Amino acid sequence: MKITFIGHGYVGLVTAAVFADFGNKVYVIGHTKEKIDNLKKGISPFYEPGLEELVKKNLKAKRLIFTLDYKPAIPESDVVFIAVGTPTTKMGDADLSTVLDVAEKIGKNLEGYTVVATKSTVPAGANKKVQRILEETKHQGAEVDYASVPEFLREGSAISDTINPDRIVIGTESKRAQEVLVKLHKSINAPLVLTNFETAELIKYAANSFLALKISYANAIAKLSELIHADALKVLEGIGMDKRIGNLFLSPGPGYGGSCFPKDVRALISIAKDNDYAFSLLEEVEIINQQARRDIVRKARGILGDVRGKNIGILGLAFKANTDDMRDAAAIDIISWLQNDGAKITAFDPKAEESAREVLPKITYADEVYSVMDGADLLIILTEWNEFKDINFEEVKKRMKTPNIIDGRNLYDPKILREYGFNYIGVGR
Ligand code: UDX
Repeated sequence: MKITFIGHGYVGLVTAAVFADFGNKVYVIGHTKEKIDNLKKGISPFYEPGLEELVKKNLKAKRLIFTLDYKPAIPESDVVFIAVGTPTTKMGDADLSTVLDVAEKIGKNLEGYTVVATKSTVPAGANKKVQRILEETKHQGAEVDYASVPEFLREGSAISDTINPDRIVIGTESKRAQEVLVKLHKSINAPLVLTNFETAELIKYAANSFLALKISYANAIAKLSELIHADALKVLEGIGMDKRIGNLFLSPGPGYGGSCFPKDVRALISIAKDNDYAFSLLEEVEIINQQARRDIVRKARGILGDVRGKNIGILGLAFKANTDDMRDAAAIDIISWLQNDGAKITAFDPKAEESAREVLPKITYADEVYSVMDGADLLIILTEWNEFKDINFEEVKKRMKTPNIIDGRNLYDPKILREYGFNYIGVGR
């Protein structure tokens, strides 16, 4: 089939590369010349394991075409995916301006029959606007159906998540569009959820908000465990063994971040509010998430007293491991609060330094793990990168001024660290 993706963020680029690899001809339309020029050389605008190899392979096979132009991509395509960003506005709802702008450009270029599907998470109601724009702008004779095919891929494992998803959700009122989209996904072996547009969109918001809720629950249990001297990791392991609960997304830490959970929780609260329903459960999820971030700073103050003038080393900046993404990373809040209190911060992240420099310009960036510890009064772990797991604790202790560790991701065994002579504080332990 012939497909176009508008947008080459995580969702657009990864899904485009995977569909090209299945043998489809795939156009990817962007609006920044520099990024498109780089993509034509196989250079991705972000880091994702395995992605550049997949892009290069399909560029070479001429199945993947990067362009700034809507022609000939749109008139040629059977399916056009809208995969542009929907950031949160100041009011907490999703900013649809790019989606609507793109819809107009697609509409003007439609020829023959085309299915236009959103991969961007768009709140209920917005689809009607996009549909209206497509109908109003298309030429006579062009036929269009509209669908929602939400994406559930995670950064860091985006390619395998796209090839082996838990389910494929296709939301559309049109039988014809449904058939086209089912055919497009035939190479993916996953159960299909065939439904209407609104339901498909709500599945996406409800899934991400539920996962955020699980994390906040884990963080609340961690907090309580600290107060009553229980071991949160055992508690969560114990509850996770119940198949009805499941053991995934129950790791306490500095709170969830990234481009999806914070935005989607806020958007679902806002959608509910617009429909006169106060989704206070999700408001509490956000409060607990914020507390998890504050708790790391509270622990730092607990160890150091006044943090003014103290050297604090940070391992990990990205919102999670295996990505260079700093969007809504816990590290941004935590480091800013510590800096406001006068702490001196030195940090290391294996991939996220470049993106971190934009949001955290006033910290010292170390170029390897151990230099973070030189002369440090305290070491804080904020991202669970594999390469932090087996560090040499003798070396760490030798380099630090005082051996204090706040392990925000529970990477280390408290008993072993204490045997090395560290003052160790984890989350919920
Ligand atoms: C998420 C969803 O998982 C994915 O289905 C959706 O398509 C996009 O949003 P992503 O943002 O890439 O994916 O990361 P994810 O692995 O879900 O982690 C999100 C945040 O939660 C990270 O900050 C992570 O560190 C945190 N997290 C995750 C925890 O704090 N504890 C956990 O147990 C799991």
